[in-house]
Amino acid sequence: MSILVTGGAGFIGSHTVVELQEAGYDVVVLDNLSNSNVKSLERVEAITGKKVPFYKADILDREALEEIFSKETVEAVIHFAGLKAVGESVQKPWEYYENNIAGTLTLVDVMRKHGVKNLIFSSSATVYGDPAFIPITEQCPKGQCTNPYGWTKSMLEQILSDIQKADQEWNVILLRYFNPIGAHKSGTMGENPNGIPNNLMPYVTQVAVGKLKELGIFGNDYDTHDGTGVRDFIHVVDLAKGHVKAVKKTEEKPGLKIYNLGTGVGYSVLDIVNNFEAATGVKVPYVFKPRRPGDIATCYSDATLAKEELGWVAEYGIREMCEDAWRWQKNNPNGYDE
Ligand code: NAD
Ligand code: UD1
Repeated sequence: MSILVTGGAGFIGSHTVVELQEAGYDVVVLDNLSNSNVKSLERVEAITGKKVPFYKADILDREALEEIFSKETVEAVIHFAGLKAVGESVQKPWEYYENNIAGTLTLVDVMRKHGVKNLIFSSSATVYGDPAFIPITEQCPKGQCTNPYGWTKSMLEQILSDIQKADQEWNVILLRYFNPIGAHKSGTMGENPNGIPNNLMPYVTQVAVGKLKELGIFGNDYDTHDGTGVRDFIHVVDLAKGHVKAVKKTEEKPGLKIYNLGTGVGYSVLDIVNNFEAATGVKVPYVFKPRRPGDIATCYSDATLAKEELGWVAEYGIREMCEDAWRWQKNNPNGYDE
């Protein structure tokens, strides 16, 4: 069975390609490299010992997609390609809706023309908005997103669900990720943000390696055990393995499925700092700053459904997430750039 991975050169995509190849799947990667470096795929090849066929292409480019689907035997698509910077999406909503929504519509249209109707889509816990209850199950109603990025995920979930409803030959699995961190054990692959990181763990590792002076902690007056925001951090390799299980699930012709991929455990920002320091022995200086607009106090999953229906559970704990993120950052202070 061969799988097309869109956005496969990116953070989660590249880790997923490793797990797919190691599970015996043939993989083809498509990426426009707008937020990634093709070196990630060289690192994948070094780990798995297998070639990764790669197309530098855009999901908005119908002709390029036609060519890929004509040349390759694609049975399922894991669709990671998309823009994901929350703040940027507020500044550039058109670009986000165009890239993420129009891009996905084009991809799905080419897929159906070629009779490929198995799709695994990268959604996000952001679709729950300020969640109605914690821990968040898939039954939790979707909420108001606070930015265009979040809305692209929420709208695409609706669009893909409607497409599946109208044509039951489709198998659509929506995976709602919580907060992926960590890196491959080898220390050769990891998160490679452009410029100053927006997300917590890459900020922490860049402070630890001396590229940034101190961590700003956004808010210490939330209603949480220590006043800082609580999230469900999940090791990216666990997340990648969840995709392998989802691919396997499509063989059962499940129709439409939605799964949370998280650990079910919430850690605060200060817990992350403390765990990082304990796991690595490196100090992370920090200062408290005002709350970041759009942030919520607490977000963590109940991932029981993925356990029951996919046979998937997150296996790595916070220590490994910190150790692995640090190994990647320390060995590659400039990410994939020399
Ligand atoms: P990433 O930016 O590392 O990977 C996305 C990849 O898609 C990049 O390699 C980028 O070059 C590519 N891409 C973007 N637009 C494209 C286009 N038009 N055509 C072809 N390629 C394109 O991000 P990631 O963290 O690996 O996230 C993967 C997916 O998971 C994204 O859809 C993201 O929104 C979603 N997601 C990520 C997180 C997270 O915390 N990282 C959380 C929830 C959901
Ligand atoms: C963010 C996005 C979310 C997206 C997810 C994965 C926002 C508002 N939400 O989630 O839509 O799906 O990334 O890409 O951006 N923090 C600090 N200092 C920092 C960075 C973060 O204190 O320098 C805190 C935040 O306030 C938050 C926690 O760390 O409490 C996690 O933040 P982050 O890593 O950005 O993820 P989310 O905000 O949960």
